[in-house]
Amino acid sequence: MNERETLKVNKQGHLEIGGADCVELAKNFGTPLYVFDEAYIRSMMRVYRDTIAEEYGGNGLVLYASKAFSCEAMYVIADSEGLGADVVSGGELFTAMKAGFPAEKIYFHGNNKLPSEIRYALDCKIGCFVVDSATEADLLDAEAEKRGMVQNVLLRINPGVEAHTHAYVQTATPDSKFGFSVHNGTAEEMVAYLLKKKHLRLLGYHSHIGSQIFEKQSFVIAVQKIMEFAAEIKKKYGFEPESVNLGGGFGIWYTDEDSKIPSGGYREYLSALISSVKEQCKKYALALPRILIEPGRSIVGEAGITLYTVGAIKDIPGLRKYVAIDGGMFDNPRYCLYQSKYTAVLANRAAERPTELISLAGKCCESGDLIGINMNLPKAETGDLVAVLSTGAYNYSMASNYNRNLIPPAVLVKEGKAQYIVRPQTYEDLVQYDVIPAYLKK
Ligand code: LLP
Repeated sequence: MNERETLKVNKQGHLEIGGADCVELAKNFGTPLYVFDEAYIRSMMRVYRDTIAEEYGGNGLVLYASKAFSCEAMYVIADSEGLGADVVSGGELFTAMKAGFPAEKIYFHGNNKLPSEIRYALDCKIGCFVVDSATEADLLDAEAEKRGMVQNVLLRINPGVEAHTHAYVQTATPDSKFGFSVHNGTAEEMVAYLLKKKHLRLLGYHSHIGSQIFEKQSFVIAVQKIMEFAAEIKKKYGFEPESVNLGGGFGIWYTDEDSKIPSGGYREYLSALISSVKEQCKKYALALPRILIEPGRSIVGEAGITLYTVGAIKDIPGLRKYVAIDGGMFDNPRYCLYQSKYTAVLANRAAERPTELISLAGKCCESGDLIGINMNLPKAETGDLVAVLSTGAYNYSMASNYNRNLIPPAVLVKEGKAQYIVRPQTYEDLVQYDVIPAYLKK
């Protein structure tokens, strides 16, 4: 079996993920439950790592964009596959450090890193900051000076390529809180500014053009813009980038409106980026830089599913049928935030064909709390098990305790066996930070 074919229907007609029967998983761990297939995660990490090894002499590093799914086990897996990590907060950094992740392979992102986060990351001796403001550069330089060190940094630039799922636009006046535009001179100013900082060492540039992108050309155009910028800077300042970080953003399958990309397809994305870097370096007589990429969604997205139990069912004649589950926007806010589309399967009757169009409703006290509308499903009954697919990225990591619901636990499946990687919350966990001031006490 291809490691990325994580889902199948077994003889009992149950959905399996990574060889584990979803009905058994629900029995053993309860629902709602996030389930991740370790083999899938590792296979995607290897696709990127091996492409850099084989097509670029290993002169690069894959950084797992841990915002997609951050927990200690994920950093352990990424480390064991030889990846680095991209973190965007003190909390993600703390989780990585707690998991024993090598600090020198951590890249710290964010448009407004807090002074406390900057100090903490310096104390951890992380590999690189991706600088995204002059304020950050000043503070970082001062704090590095205090510690008697020189900190490696990349500058986040904005190449003016706006990518959307299946399209892209090039724009010279990008309105974004991230990065410095290569078109309006601010990126150049920042390079000059950073080169003057005694306690910062500029390694090169970073750019991330968006997420859930299928259009290869948008990545390639971004590379062209970055290298064109690098060439101009070299001419004016004599500075040549030692590293170029091309961000993440490769798309994944959620529904049949999306392409189902085979492993070879992800290799092709990266190959196209690598070829473009080589071409541009030749064109501008630049030395080949170290290539960094930061995939998140494509590593964990399709590796994960969420299991739910069906509760109330409400059929509003002529209007809509609501099938309510024991989860909702607190474990997956992506429909509410982005009207994201998902595929649902009845995991205990997975061989049955869909016969109905339903809306999958959460249990929160809010009408908009849906996982999706007009989803295809066989006729669901109370007690059925629903699996929502491709929920590995930006689900757990964006979950909340809204309505004081418990964030579901997560299990990792390896060779058909599941173990917790995020333990279940309890009601006691919910009140652990609550304080009743003395004067309010009876
Ligand atoms: N690098 C940087 C600097 C990023 O900002 C991101 C994602 C990535 C890498 C990883 O991109 P990926 O390979 O996962 O597409 N919450 C949204 C997605 C936000 C993405 C933010 N940045 C969602 O649920 O769709």
